[in-house]
Amino acid sequence: MYTLHEETKEITDIILAARDKAREEVGKSEPEAQFAKPMTWPVQCTVGPGLEGAIACESKVGYVNGSKGMLVYRGYDIFDLCAYSTFEEVSYLLVHGELPNTSQLREFNCSLARFRSLPMTLRRLGGFPVENINTMAALRIGTMMMRQRLSFRDSQSARPDPNTAISADEDSIPMETKPMGEPHAIYEFKKKQLERPKDARETQDESESVQSCMHLISGMATIAAGVARMREEKMPIEPDTELSHAANLLYMMTGRKPTPIEERVMDVALILHADHGMNASTFASMVVASTLSDIYFSVGAGIAALNGPLHGGANEQVLRLLQEIGPAAKVSSWFEQATREKRRIMGFGHRVYKAYDPRARILGPLAKFLIQEKKEMRPLYNTARELEKKVVTTLGAEKKIFPNVDFYSGIVYAAMGIEPELFTPIFAVSRVSGWCARILEYLDNNRIFRPRAMYIGEFDKEYVPIGKRGAKKNARKK
Ligand code: CMC
Repeated sequence: MYTLHEETKEITDIILAARDKAREEVGKSEPEAQFAKPMTWPVQCTVGPGLEGAIACESKVGYVNGSKGMLVYRGYDIFDLCAYSTFEEVSYLLVHGELPNTSQLREFNCSLARFRSLPMTLRRLGGFPVENINTMAALRIGTMMMRQRLSFRDSQSARPDPNTAISADEDSIPMETKPMGEPHAIYEFKKKQLERPKDARETQDESESVQSCMHLISGMATIAAGVARMREEKMPIEPDTELSHAANLLYMMTGRKPTPIEERVMDVALILHADHGMNASTFASMVVASTLSDIYFSVGAGIAALNGPLHGGANEQVLRLLQEIGPAAKVSSWFEQATREKRRIMGFGHRVYKAYDPRARILGPLAKFLIQEKKEMRPLYNTARELEKKVVTTLGAEKKIFPNVDFYSGIVYAAMGIEPELFTPIFAVSRVSGWCARILEYLDNNRIFRPRAMYIGEFDKEYVPIGKRGAKKNARKK
């Protein structure tokens, strides 16, 4: 088969070996009860707590088969996409529905390159105490600021007129239109006539929405990298137009052009995290989109949901947990105690997968590959392997709990010198393509999300004036 990745063939081989192992084991596993098929609404389904089993919509974007441990984007197996494709191609595939041909990919890459440079957004973000705030909060603020770029408030026509603006620096925002030389500055704010952009989604390719998707897919990497730099009290770095998306992400974070291996591993990690069914952050972003709020607000909701330790935030927690355990020899006693304390082990378990997560099948061997060159990380990896064995032989056998995508991704990123606080933002930098694809798809037949809650409270209570209410226990305190 044609392969794009001659220089990093060893990574391709690792992925293909993981694919073969998965296929061999999947062959032995029980078949999926429910195959993908079109349906007629309203649909009958059994819903569990946390909307388990609920069908929220139909989708052609991606498919997760939990009992077979299978992940598909737009019909393509995740192993093939990782082995042969790139994040740019996969993003195009998710958003447009088909793999691009050469000229479509070239055009898509040009758009990404155009959107990758965000000096003004980063400068504005620098006005926040980025070094002191949660990295996902910073990413979210930056993403909200990106919104200004393509919304009417910050559209080209709303930018200062170079002929009349008095300030000459590139950051100029119309403010002091008539400095009067008074002891205290007198500011007069010139009212600008703001122009709304033409209606979104006029044509699939030229719509503001698709533009905004490319803006978000490209720009969020710049923001995440900028956050990484600002946390280290360094200036953000401009993207390099010659580099791929993955290489730019690493370059803008570190200031060093990555090796082909580093670039490829990051690219594979981005492909692996790009989409995953109706996960919490995707659903959150779709709920916001369904109100016809714009895609930036929707993606902001996705970032917020992804931050939680039960979701994307688990990758950072895994590394901390491995550090807490210490050497591999301590896994057994740590696990006994964690079981006694009924602790959740980060990086394990999944609502959908009741088999080995295919993403962990790739990331595990990639972590092993990377630590060959990183001797100092070997103890951490050994602890991870030991913990995996322990969990799989106990919780795996009992409750079908296996490593998920977050278990090895942290080791992979750490082996590339990335700080744990950046792991979840990198997840978001990838998942934004899935959020965008599913939002666009849903908006084609939008209906506002509005499930119900079962009221289990009381009725007919008599209203008691505040002065007559006695001391009562706070109802929310258990
Ligand atoms: N460690 C120990 N026990 C677990 C774990 C775990 N990581 N996950 C589930 N269980 C047990 C749970 O205690 C319960 O046992 P019992 O039936 O005896 O009460 C059973 O498995 C079912 O758990 P659940 O809470 O009903 O499962 P869920 O589908 O609601 O939760 C999950 C899925 C991912 C939130 C959960 O497995 C978990 O908390 N995992 C750890 C956090 C994590 O790694 N999250 C990343 C998920 S993958 C990437 C992503 O989507 O972001």
